[in-house]
Amino acid sequence: LGNGLASTPPMGWNSWNHFNCMIDEKVIKETADALVSTGLANIGYKYVNIDDCWAEISRDNKGALVPKNSTFPSGLKALADYVHSKGLKLGIYSDAGFYTCSKKMPGSLGHEEQDAKTFASWGIDYLKYDNCNNGGLRPTLRYPVMTRALMNAGRPIFFSLCEWGDMHPALWGYTVGNSWRTTNDISDTWDSMVSRADQNEVYADFARPGGWNDPDMLEVGNGGMTKDEYIVHFSIWAISKAPLLIGCDVRNITEDTMEIIANKEVIAVNQDKLGVQAKKVRMEGDWEVWAGPLSHYRVAVVLLNRGSWSTSITAHWDDIGIPPSTSVIARDLWEHKTLETTFAGNLTATVQSHACKMYVLKPIS
Ligand code: GLA
Repeated sequence: LGNGLASTPPMGWNSWNHFNCMIDEKVIKETADALVSTGLANIGYKYVNIDDCWAEISRDNKGALVPKNSTFPSGLKALADYVHSKGLKLGIYSDAGFYTCSKKMPGSLGHEEQDAKTFASWGIDYLKYDNCNNGGLRPTLRYPVMTRALMNAGRPIFFSLCEWGDMHPALWGYTVGNSWRTTNDISDTWDSMVSRADQNEVYADFARPGGWNDPDMLEVGNGGMTKDEYIVHFSIWAISKAPLLIGCDVRNITEDTMEIIANKEVIAVNQDKLGVQAKKVRMEGDWEVWAGPLSHYRVAVVLLNRGSWSTSITAHWDDIGIPPSTSVIARDLWEHKTLETTFAGNLTATVQSHACKMYVLKPIS
């Protein structure tokens, strides 16, 4: 969407994966504080996104959405002011239907103009727009109505389509939103995570600056996967130019989690200005090579082992789009080391079970 807000994939945090409906203004404020104190805000995680369950079940007598008095007593304007005072941005959630997915608050269908104006008046910077309870109306009749409302609301608001991939939003999302979910909800398991990665990969050609495929938010730090599995999760999301929305409790973050989500070299791949989503360029049994171009003729590569035993994986230049006679310097983004030898034609590494290696290859001129 040409609103100038998504030249690279969005980065931030969202309440849903960890907190579900158990949110209040204290959690949101403390999360904003923690993003700053951990340094995560400084390396790009700017959006603090409130998901479902923030509003009262009924609109007020003028038809406006009302923040839930028991959990957001100070109101959303005060919360936005607080979040902005930390140098961060505040995101909110609604639904292109009559109720949100939790059924604990109203949706925006039929109230698009009013709700967009309300969000803008509070100082909201990002809207995640869900797809539940939609009366069977097709998404292309519902989502663009909110797009127009947001464009008329007088404030730039990142528009995240949460249509779950049902009607292939990658095919129509670019003129409607800044990102579009390509999958149904992720859960905190290896199988769920890799299957979202696969479903999202199919649409790689449709991602570009302004609009991104969204395989759902990060589970890193929520405890259901091993450290290596979370490294795979973060690496694949980064190389796929997915939104990097942290989904754990950043107020109580571990060193292992920080090591993953604060890896600046991996984030730089995600935020590379070329904005081209990587593809799975080779699959053999349990192993895969994912690759995509970066600016300055560099190439990002992930060697992924989905199997139960460690294995040797080779990236061939033919597969990853490097001319056959070109030598490259390889930077290992998880070891934070430039490999001592240069490589010509291919690069091979041993990769542990449910783990990956991630490189940036730079041609030697
Ligand atoms: C849907 C969305 C989730 C989350 C919940 C909230 O399932 O896909 O990301 O927003 O609704 O109820």
